[in-house]
Amino acid sequence: MKDLFDKCKNYNEAKKIQKLGLYPYFHKVQTGQDPVVKVEGKEMIMMGSNNYLGLTSNRDLKKAANEATNKYGVGCVGSRFLNGTLEMHEELEKKLSDFVNKPDALIFTTGMLTNLGVISSLAGRNDIIFADKYDHASIIDGCTMSLGKLKRFKHNDIDELEKLLKKSDPEKGKLIVTDGVFSMEGDLCNLPAITKVAKKYGARLMVDDAHGIGVMGEAGKGTVEYFGLTDEVDIIVGTFSKSFASTGGFVAADKNIIHYLKHNARALIFTASPAPAMVATVISAMELIKKEPERIKSLWKNTKKLRSGFEKMGFDTGESVTPIIPLIIGEDILAFKMWRELFDNGIFTTPVVSPAVPENRSLIRVSVMATFEDEHIETALNTFEKVGKELGVI
Ligand SMILES: Cc1ncc(COP(=O)(O)O)c(C=O)c1O
Repeated sequence: MKDLFDKCKNYNEAKKIQKLGLYPYFHKVQTGQDPVVKVEGKEMIMMGSNNYLGLTSNRDLKKAANEATNKYGVGCVGSRFLNGTLEMHEELEKKLSDFVNKPDALIFTTGMLTNLGVISSLAGRNDIIFADKYDHASIIDGCTMSLGKLKRFKHNDIDELEKLLKKSDPEKGKLIVTDGVFSMEGDLCNLPAITKVAKKYGARLMVDDAHGIGVMGEAGKGTVEYFGLTDEVDIIVGTFSKSFASTGGFVAADKNIIHYLKHNARALIFTASPAPAMVATVISAMELIKKEPERIKSLWKNTKKLRSGFEKMGFDTGESVTPIIPLIIGEDILAFKMWRELFDNGIFTTPVVSPAVPENRSLIRVSVMATFEDEHIETALNTFEKVGKELGVI
């Protein structure tokens, strides 16, 4: 008789990597996500977080989180739909809709839940979703959960997207979904071209800007604002788990779309709302970004320094133009070895292997913080050069 758990007993992929001493996951960080962290007793430079603006340990944000906890308690113990809406949730929604310049916004408990809720409730049985092959897993899971048909186009290949749109039934509703900044390789979607084909074929357009909010565009308003295409994009999704240093996600769109989502998105209705400290942190982060725009400038200054350092050494950084800098390595095992050497030499990074990237395009994902000092960047670059040469990557 077949046992459901056979797949667990026979799952050896991770164990093989563990046996080789190359297992990069679940390492215990013992400090805040600052430029220098302690990991399992050892100090390291943190180049694997999404703390782009370096706000996770910021005094104002911590104060806001503490005050919210003191006032409202540690959790909301219920859905936004029922008992879990605080004034603070709505205050943040107003701030977010103003920030990205859309009429309304709705917050979810994570960015993952935002994509699941938005896509699965908007794309129904008679709709088609067109998604870039590099779109984040939460987008693809949202598409899989929806009753709509999913069609994927080659990464940033707008000709292929157009062919798919042209072939599709004009009577079906169409939704194109793309990352704004692609999360693994740090390149941008070709938004000007996508908006044109979307218009031509009557498709609606959703941009997940998890890695663009707080980073791209004027005052960190995101990739859509950076391209000046806010009116051409129907739905903007973002997360609080990167630049905003918290946990949660949001969608911004026209009022009737938000109203529909409020009453149909199961990932909103059937889960507890974001805890007060999470919400207060984001409100405080948004105020700080406005008050201290130099943080975004520092992020870009550090990004430029690191990227040009890597490129001078001969690393392949793909098409990245953002604070996500991939060092493309090739084979999975080489990426794991590179990660291990960097780790042992005091640099925390994240290796990315298939299926998160195509086979033989494994990479070391480096992400930049506004709060890196020059000495962190120099130490890191020297270590990358030493390790890259030792392993024959450069
Ligand atoms: C593009 C993109 N969308 C959504 C998410 C999910 O965000 P969250 O961490 O808030 O669930 C991520 C997180 O990695 C992401 O990179």
